[in-house]
Amino acid sequence: MNHILILGGDGYLGWPTAMYFSNRGYRVTVVDNYFRRNACLELDVGMLYALPSLVERAKMWHELTGNEIKVVIGDLQEPEVMRSLFDGRIRYDWAVNPSFTGLPDTVVHYAEQPSAPYSLINHRYANITLQNNLVVTNNLMFAVRDFERDIHIVKLGTMGEYGTPNIDIEEGWIEIEHKGRAERFLFPRQASSLYHTTKIMDTDLLWFGVRMWELRVTDLMQGPVYGLETDEMEMDDRLKTLFNYDEIFGTIINRFIVQAVVGYPLTVYGRGGQTRGYLHVRDTLQCVEKACETPAKRGELRIFNQIMETFAANELAEMVQKVGNELGYDVQIDHIPNPRKEAEEHYYHPTYQGLIDIGVTPHYLTDRVLENMFKTVAQYRHNIREDVIFRGVQWG
Ligand SMILES: NC(=O)c1ccc[n+]([C@@H]2O[C@H](COP(=O)([O-])OP(=O)(O)OC[C@H]3O[C@@H](n4cnc5c(N)ncnc54)[C@H](O)[C@@H]3O)[C@@H](O)[C@H]2O)c1
Repeated sequence: MNHILILGGDGYLGWPTAMYFSNRGYRVTVVDNYFRRNACLELDVGMLYALPSLVERAKMWHELTGNEIKVVIGDLQEPEVMRSLFDGRIRYDWAVNPSFTGLPDTVVHYAEQPSAPYSLINHRYANITLQNNLVVTNNLMFAVRDFERDIHIVKLGTMGEYGTPNIDIEEGWIEIEHKGRAERFLFPRQASSLYHTTKIMDTDLLWFGVRMWELRVTDLMQGPVYGLETDEMEMDDRLKTLFNYDEIFGTIINRFIVQAVVGYPLTVYGRGGQTRGYLHVRDTLQCVEKACETPAKRGELRIFNQIMETFAANELAEMVQKVGNELGYDVQIDHIPNPRKEAEEHYYHPTYQGLIDIGVTPHYLTDRVLENMFKTVAQYRHNIREDVIFRGVQWG
């Protein structure tokens, strides 16, 4: 029976991941400091619905399933909070099997500031992003180095680290030949936001830790995630994960659905040829599970591109418009001046075979998936604030 520690367990991905593993018999401990909820409050960007606290969620989960999710509230930028998870100060005792008190075998690291626009609001938010993301990752790396080097770190990267190069994107690595000699290097990264730049730096930190101390690391280069449907969230409405629809924290498909429901023209930035890889939240969970079940070896940084299909922003807008119109909404598409500095038409050809090779079965963005998202969002239509949908945080 494995024990998984989820850093950032209150987040959009962290909470569904916690329930997913708990439902499959793993022992699960979650850590969070409510950074995301507080950032939403500070910036006055409403969520689609209110959330119970993490402790309340864990209690509800226990009442519904009999399974325990252990909750630790603390800021992982504090080295002692991080170290207490590994050095015996946090006691991992479980009512169901009290004899098992072991350290986690796997740490899933989600605990970062995850928004590109947030990181570019101004220098203060840039500093918060840099400090939070790098210090949490560094604290994790040193805690694992100092207390148990065999622990597998599964860390979320992003496809945005690669940018949009004019060559095919490989899964993490590239073989370079130079003046008659060859070596394998990390695939070049050139992000177009400060947040994405911190993700590149995270990878570099952990690659250093792998070379220096033979840590075991899997880096999941994830594309934007959409959706609210997982088996666990469907058990009870109160177990649903957070859902942002604003420009700062909302991801594109989630935002478009909300815009369509309230009759706000879909905000396509510029010409709309920006192409990215996407995945359903169910696939994030599957990918993390497969990565945990087949850990990286000691001294290995294993990298997967975690996307299931690619779309241009225009294609997504047209898909949401079609489904929305069929459901009786009048969905308009607006091409607004692009607040970001990014290529609006470009070559995009990433490889993403590795996760399928270890057993992931992809879910795709179908009309039915979009219809279900429309239904969920429509239930909370009365909460949607049009004033937070678009504010225009400028990259330039
Ligand atoms: N959601 C996506 O589409 C997406 C795409 C690519 C990569 N990612 C990556 O996946 C990870 C999770 O993303 P998410 O969408 O769930 O974001 P999220 O903001 O919903 O979750 C992150 C969680 O970490 C917590 N956290 C942040 N700093 C912390 C700290 N110092 N101490 C304790 N807790 C802290 C936050 O409060 C939040 O609950 C991030 O690393 C993000 O970069 C997400």
